[in-house]
Amino acid sequence: MAKSTIMVIAALCLMSVVGSAYGYDKFFVEGKVYCDTCRIQFLTSVSEFLPGATVRLECKVAANETITYVKDVTTDAAGKYSIEVEGDHEEELCEVFLIDSPRQDCNEIKSEVANLETASRVSLTHKNGIVSAVREANPLGFLKAVPLAECPQIFKELGLNANGTASDS
Ligand SMILES: *[C@@H]1O[C@H](CO)[C@@H](O)[C@H](O)[C@H]1NC(C)=O
Ligand SMILES: *[C@@H]1O[C@H](CO)[C@@H](O)[C@H](O)[C@H]1NC(C)=O
Repeated sequence: MAKSTIMVIAALCLMSVVGSAYGYDKFFVEGKVYCDTCRIQFLTSVSEFLPGATVRLECKVAANETITYVKDVTTDAAGKYSIEVEGDHEEELCEVFLIDSPRQDCNEIKSEVANLETASRVSLTHKNGIVSAVREANPLGFLKAVPLAECPQIFKELGLNANGTASDS
């Protein structure tokens, strides 16, 4: 009796050790949402972080587009979000994208630059060697309908043309 009890306890201990190391995965996808006040699709000194914006994390099987995971969250007062994700999603393509803006004047979701995407890809697996459970997503911006008056000056300071295109010189 005593012997079998010890064996059961030993087995439970072993299971919990193995379970925490390999059997259970949890990730936190973190990122920020901003109002892209210059419609340039990256953060500038005049970008405004957006509280109350909704983003969606979606994972899908790349080969057949089957959606395996969907979760919507809303940004906090600083425009930040954290999405808790269960399980390893090594075989899937996981992306965060914009869903809804709280601001009427800043709710456009569009890529004005051909090679820029409006979604941020995250890798949700420990099998790629990343030990941390936190995965940073690139900041995502809703475009402001009317850019701010100071944008051309900001572009110049960044070494761009006044219209935000890359300068040749
Ligand atoms: C898509 O691919 C996954 C992984 O290979 C498979 O499990 C799933 O059944 C497939 N779904 C469809 C609709 O083909
Ligand atoms: C942006 O400005 C540059 C320099 O003034 C000009 O050469 C270019 O054609 C402009 N591009 C667009 C899309 O307006």
